[in-house]
Amino acid sequence: MSAAERPVAPRGTRDILGDEARLRAHVIATAAETFARYAYAPITTPTFEHTELFARGVGASTDIVRKEMYTFEDGGGRSLTLRPEGTAPVARAFVEHGMHKWQLPVKLWYSGSMFRYEAPQRGRYREHTQFGGEALGSPAPEVDVEVIALLADIYAQLGVPGVELRLGSMGDPESRTGHREALLGYLAGHRDDLPAESRERMELNPLRLFDAKDEPTRAVMAEAPRLLDALSPAAAEHHSAVEAGLGRLGIPFTRDDTLVRGMDYYTHTVFEFTADNLGAQSAIGGGGRYDGLIAELGGPETPGIGFGCGVDRVVEALGDAGDDVGGVEVYVAIIGDELRAELGPLVRELRGAGVRCESDLRGRGMKAMLRHAAALGVGTTVIIGEREHERGVATVRDMDTGDQREVPLAGLVEELA
Ligand code: HAM
Repeated sequence: MSAAERPVAPRGTRDILGDEARLRAHVIATAAETFARYAYAPITTPTFEHTELFARGVGASTDIVRKEMYTFEDGGGRSLTLRPEGTAPVARAFVEHGMHKWQLPVKLWYSGSMFRYEAPQRGRYREHTQFGGEALGSPAPEVDVEVIALLADIYAQLGVPGVELRLGSMGDPESRTGHREALLGYLAGHRDDLPAESRERMELNPLRLFDAKDEPTRAVMAEAPRLLDALSPAAAEHHSAVEAGLGRLGIPFTRDDTLVRGMDYYTHTVFEFTADNLGAQSAIGGGGRYDGLIAELGGPETPGIGFGCGVDRVVEALGDAGDDVGGVEVYVAIIGDELRAELGPLVRELRGAGVRCESDLRGRGMKAMLRHAAALGVGTTVIIGEREHERGVATVRDMDTGDQREVPLAGLVEELA
């Protein structure tokens, strides 16, 4: 940025304004309400953590840790990282505060910015907002079912169109060890068909190749042995129980034996929700079980499961469907300075009664006030001039139809609330 240029937001970030900003607040408020109904308590963790937390928690083989972290050194020479995701911080807090002594499972939810140095495109930002929930301290498949139902309920409540759920399993360490050998054996036979990038990923974690976007790797992976077919008896039983539980709740899902998530901490259940109107970045939320994470961070063996939901993408999926959310409902147009002063308390009373309302704050005349009301998109405008005031009434105009009626001032608040 040269001195002559005006500053702009950094690449991959943006300002969120107008309808989109209102819709976003509505999405987070709806999530908050639903979390409360599922007995989740809010938690706030710092926006940055010691870099080591993500290296250990999210995993050294992941794209997030290898390429995407916003890492910096602070004035004291500590390596810190803007959080790329919310699970490792919550797990860190669980261990730090000895939450294993609380009533289990401990159910926590959060919302806030996540930072990933990714190539920006539609639906993919370098700073995005997630809300997420984590349930720590029970290995029961009922928790998996409840967590998935919770997120499905949030989407339903919001009216997100074209939502689909994919379900897979990462198994337990026993399933993984056996499958890894089979997969590496298979890949060794196809080494020459794989591009260099895939061969490199293969060394780090061969499962990640199921997530590859390039054609040669996809062709190889189409025939590769599936982890879902290699689950240990215990892992298979867990997976069936989750499927049966979702069935009982009437939550439709597709079994996906190639579902790979971006973090190394997952065990057993993994899932992803997509919306059908988003293009390439269609994942609106995802999560899974992470039974080894708390121990990995130095806590007592504690199973956990949770999800993160991409608020930016949910808002985009809602599109026009969310246009009217949270906007101004009523405009109070009072004509004349004296009357405006006298009726000042009325606007406050309306607001106190829960009506989202605005009135003029710039000494506009009647015409300009009506233009202001129209620009705000209110449904109702209340007009009070000398004439009305003397008769103790207000003119209430329906802004869509233009219909007007008179309402006694004494009953106005009740009428509009
Ligand atoms: P994740 O799948 O990486 O999972 O992120 C969750 C959601 O955040 C995604 O489904 C997507 O909607 C949104 N998202 C991710 N990256 C971006 C981006 N660059 N721009 C816009 N939206 C994005 C997690 O982060 C895990 N912590 C979820 C979890 C919680 N697993 C267990 N507990």
